[in-house]
Amino acid sequence: MKSEQQSSAETGPVRDLSYELLGIQLENPFILAAGPSTDDIDMVRRAFMMGWAGAVLKTTSVEGTPVDLAYPMMSSFDHDGKLLFGMGNIDLISAHHIDRVESTVRTLRKEFPAKMIAASIMAGKKEDWQSLVARLEHAGADLIECSFSCPQGNIGEDPGRMLAQSVAATELTARWVKEAARRIPVSIKITPQVTDIVDVARAVQRSGADALTASNSVQALMGIDVYSFVPNPPLGGRSTYSGLTGPAIKPMTLRTIAEIARHVTIPVLGTGGASSWRDAVEFMSVGARCVQFCTLVMHHGFRVIDDLKSGLSNYMDDMGFSSPLDIVGKALPHLAVHDDLPRRRVRSMIDESRCIGCEVCYVACRDGGHGAIDRRESRIPVVNTERCVGCGLCPLVCPEACISLAGV
Ligand SMILES: Cc1cc2nc3c(=O)[nH]c(=O)nc-3n(C[C@H](O)[C@H](O)[C@H](O)COP(=O)(O)O)c2cc1C
Repeated sequence: MKSEQQSSAETGPVRDLSYELLGIQLENPFILAAGPSTDDIDMVRRAFMMGWAGAVLKTTSVEGTPVDLAYPMMSSFDHDGKLLFGMGNIDLISAHHIDRVESTVRTLRKEFPAKMIAASIMAGKKEDWQSLVARLEHAGADLIECSFSCPQGNIGEDPGRMLAQSVAATELTARWVKEAARRIPVSIKITPQVTDIVDVARAVQRSGADALTASNSVQALMGIDVYSFVPNPPLGGRSTYSGLTGPAIKPMTLRTIAEIARHVTIPVLGTGGASSWRDAVEFMSVGARCVQFCTLVMHHGFRVIDDLKSGLSNYMDDMGFSSPLDIVGKALPHLAVHDDLPRRRVRSMIDESRCIGCEVCYVACRDGGHGAIDRRESRIPVVNTERCVGCGLCPLVCPEACISLAGV
């Protein structure tokens, strides 16, 4: 069976997907997120030639910042046979010297004038943040993205705690960066792991920063070997918390972007769990103005850009949208607080002609619902409409997708 991305890739030419964001002309909304794929100039060159609109180079810092990588750094959260449903990494920032990153920006700027080249930075002291901005702006970066959310802790400050977990530190540091950025926009990359994401987003907006990148990987413990009790990834009998990325974190990112977009006016650059053009549309529909990808590319390579572009192009044709920006915020009016949700009578309905009699729905409803599915000798279950409240569990567990909710 063809995947959604494959089938959409095969239909018709790609339309114009260009638009402007933060004063930068983008060919399309698809950007490489800071990570291994953007830590090498030849990899970025190849990605640009294949059609990626831009790249956020892997985070760099000042010369004095030690980068002591530990290997292996990756682990997988597989689910139901799907590899890398979530990916964990204990990577740090780029091991390259800032001189090299600066020269990468300069070279890419010359070779690819139409691409968005963003430099990602991370530091401790004010003078370090500011010197990084000045150097990378001078080298020709289009955007400075500040990592306030590295899950391996913040350089020099409070190890294990992310900068974006402090509202006051976020505002202060973003002000330093903004002070030093003379012409180019600044985006602050935040973590979803805070009590109130709106407080953090408001602090970023108050600082004068131009955008928020939402959101970084989620700090997680990837799993434990139940015989040795060593967590993943194992490094000589020890391990540490990882940054979880990939499809597993998409729902958290959607909520984070939506909350930010509902409360602040500066643009959001989406990242965190997108793995198809459809995911990108979902991110944009809750407020993202572009979408960054990392795990998808690490798994399937740069060529996924073809599927992303053609899928989005077909979708925009179907929907009658003329610019990717037409999608931005479209889902937000449909978000409400629980009290304001409509109260309607809904009931499950089983399409008997497609039911295979596996009784998964019966068991789920008996032990996790309302005991509203009755067994029959034929093994084709029947909904007890008196007991069914329309909770929505049985359609989710039916392997044949033959249960629907009536009255929804
Ligand atoms: C191995 C690895 C290294 C990463 N390094 C960085 C980094 O240096 N700076 C940064 O801001 N984000 C870094 N990230 C986070 C990604 O930029 C991205 O925000 C995150 O992976 C979520 O997106 P995804 O689900 O599309 O992968 C890294 C992610 C991975 C998987």
